[in-house]
Amino acid sequence: MPDKKSLGFDTISIHGGHTPESNRAHLTPIYASSTYTFDSAEQAIATFKGEEPGYIYGRWGNPTITEAEGKIALLEAYGLKDKNGDPLQLKAILHASGMAALSTMILGNLKAGQKILTHQSLYSGTHEFVEKILPGLEIEPIIVDFHNLEKVEAALIADKHIGLMHIETPANPTLQCVDLEALAALGHKHNIIVTVDNTFATPYLQQPFKYEVDYVMHSTTKFLNGHGTAIGGIVIGKDLENMNSGITRMHRLLGGNSNAFDAFLLTNGLKTFSLSMDRHCANAEKVAAWLERNPAVGRVNYLGLASHPDHAIAKKQMKHAGAMLSFELKGGFDAGVQFINKLQVCICAVSLGTCDTLISHPASTTHVGVPREQRLQFGITDGLIRMSVGIENAEDLINDLEQAIKTPNP
Ligand SMILES: Cc1ncc(COP(=O)(O)O)c(C=O)c1O
Repeated sequence: MPDKKSLGFDTISIHGGHTPESNRAHLTPIYASSTYTFDSAEQAIATFKGEEPGYIYGRWGNPTITEAEGKIALLEAYGLKDKNGDPLQLKAILHASGMAALSTMILGNLKAGQKILTHQSLYSGTHEFVEKILPGLEIEPIIVDFHNLEKVEAALIADKHIGLMHIETPANPTLQCVDLEALAALGHKHNIIVTVDNTFATPYLQQPFKYEVDYVMHSTTKFLNGHGTAIGGIVIGKDLENMNSGITRMHRLLGGNSNAFDAFLLTNGLKTFSLSMDRHCANAEKVAAWLERNPAVGRVNYLGLASHPDHAIAKKQMKHAGAMLSFELKGGFDAGVQFINKLQVCICAVSLGTCDTLISHPASTTHVGVPREQRLQFGITDGLIRMSVGIENAEDLINDLEQAIKTPNP
């Protein structure tokens, strides 16, 4: 096998991170073992000291998990070079969920008294973690509109306690896109750590390390797994020393480790990653164009449409606009409920990034408890429908949308 770093993206998706297995199984088995044995006390000492490679305890690592971590690190680094012109080396640590990855990444890089600079457009769980959990640990958030680079720099100049900038682009659920290159440059100018949630784009569409950010995280639950079979998250870093010390320690002590079964599903999902992503993206483009022409539909939010306010930023930093979109049914709340009830191919569910198309009506589900005025401020209008476009035949998706939009209430 040639040096895996010189292989193409698709070959890495299949073979990257794999090490031959002692029983010659083609796929790395699901290592369902909580602990690992030693031949002797001396070997145990050497392994604990890190002088000899080897697994010790399942919370600290597992061969099935190692393969998924190695594969994703290679995909995020694909084609990128470090400061010396050598292939970029990254280390990844798989977690039990995207939220476990996010909390390890933030808590592994900040301490009490420091502040986190971030923006309003964040996944709701991240937003709650930043606003409700971090202040209790004496890590205060500063929220700035990341479209306004002058305000970002002013915040960095005004407060020397800011230790980390966290960016989510494209953001869930608004699909807001912010300029990674410009924000990372500001972060470096002011000597702070820059972290990115790359869940919506995946390394196939966007590589934040190209802009020299410090850490990237994903909810692997989504496009990386691709089949909706497991919850997971991953932290990837280029500061190998901190990845092997501070971040590893935080990961082990918070205990948000993944497990062999979920890692196995993730590794196998990744083998067809780019094939799926190409179809996700092509389908989303067709669906968005169709929706934009439909008279029952108002605003269509899709980064690939010239009408999206962040279309130019997305075009600059993403290979394609991706598979997430939302649209407004002109009939409001009732039209949204009726539409969901009529779907026959698309699945009514939260989450995203599965081969099946997933559709949700936030006003009647995820945001049902949010007062209407507040919900409208977030851009979640009564008839807004969110769609994670799957890899079915595009014409079947469009036919399904058409009959669900058209069919009158029985
Ligand atoms: C952008 C983003 N980041 C993080 C998360 C959290 O991931 P998980 O649900 O795997 O904990 C999600 C979940 O939807 C998400 O969409």
